[in-house]
Amino acid sequence: MTDVETTTGFGFHRPTAGTSADTSAHTSADTSAGAADMAELDEQVTLADDAEFDLTTDEAAARVEQTLAALEAELVGLGSVKRRVREIASLLQVDRARRQFGLTSSRPTLHMSFAGGPGTGKTTVALRMAAILHALGYIRAPRVHTVTRDDLVGQFIGHTAPKTKEAIARAAGGVLFIDEAYYLFRPENERDYGQEVIEILLTEMENERGDLVVIFAGYPDRMAIFFSANPGLSSRVPHHIEFEDYSHGELVQIADLMVASENFRFDNEARAAFSEYLTRRMEQPRFSNARSVRNAVERSRLRQARRLVELRRPLRKDDLVTLTAEDIYGSSLFVGDAKP
Ligand SMILES: Nc1ncnc2c1ncn2[C@@H]1O[C@H](COP(=O)(O)OP(=O)(O)O)[C@@H](O)[C@H]1O
Ligand SMILES: [Mg+2]
Repeated sequence: MTDVETTTGFGFHRPTAGTSADTSAHTSADTSAGAADMAELDEQVTLADDAEFDLTTDEAAARVEQTLAALEAELVGLGSVKRRVREIASLLQVDRARRQFGLTSSRPTLHMSFAGGPGTGKTTVALRMAAILHALGYIRAPRVHTVTRDDLVGQFIGHTAPKTKEAIARAAGGVLFIDEAYYLFRPENERDYGQEVIEILLTEMENERGDLVVIFAGYPDRMAIFFSANPGLSSRVPHHIEFEDYSHGELVQIADLMVASENFRFDNEARAAFSEYLTRRMEQPRFSNARSVRNAVERSRLRQARRLVELRRPLRKDDLVTLTAEDIYGSSLFVGDAKP
């Protein structure tokens, strides 16, 4: 008898005692499996009561850690969102470990609500969430199928159910992301077909064996009204994540990150100009957080391109990379200003 442990690809350690019959070839097959889906997990040999399952060496857990690290690195701010995503990931990692020991419990309910203004990162985080759910085997593909009311509700009697079912079928095995979900609910019109959509979704969301995760997204205040008016739905959505508007400082950081990821940079005057731009833009109607930043950066690139072409001289790498104050002050928000 030896106290050496075999580490399988899935990170569980089995004592290599005489009873090696159950440490079959199964383990090497598991090692090469890119993603363990639920069915696969269910078929696995149950670990002995005194075995160990090590999350720190588990492959799926490692993929989750990678996704969480990318979320940290690529998204500015969003502290509480990142914490909640981490919490959900932990819950699932432990659920998965429990399954290895044959500890059955119901599949965790994973439907979620992402409440926040436009451009606060809801779609981006949904993609990351899908990667996590996939790595842990709760969905078959790390896919997000985004829909709005028009994709679900038909114009005429009898058209809604097939439309909704088609959307669900497309999303099956992944995430169905319902943007501005509250438009499904029109209390002023009790014959509205949106109600039918909600009922079909409810049935689908209750299905224990199903592998569809639904994320409802939209403005916080309207989401709250939507859920309180639909208690049946609300009780099946245990995870509510709030996305706050970004501060001015966070938006400047987001701009820097976006610019750098496209191999551009602001020179010092340009960064000051962009900061001033944001101060003004935040006061304007339809300000959409990071989305407005992305649009503004894209327009600065257009102005930079025009400026460079008009230089009519050979360009250096530095020219091509740099966004200058001129590229920012060209915005209509500065029209009429006496600017350099
Ligand atoms: N915290 C952040 N850091 C960096 N970029 C962000 C952040 N939040 C959002 N973005 C970027 O802003 C844009 C809009 O984000 P998105 O996820 O579509 O927002 P929403 O779905 O809430 O409207 C995307 O290009 C996204 O990459
Ligand atoms: Mg979105």
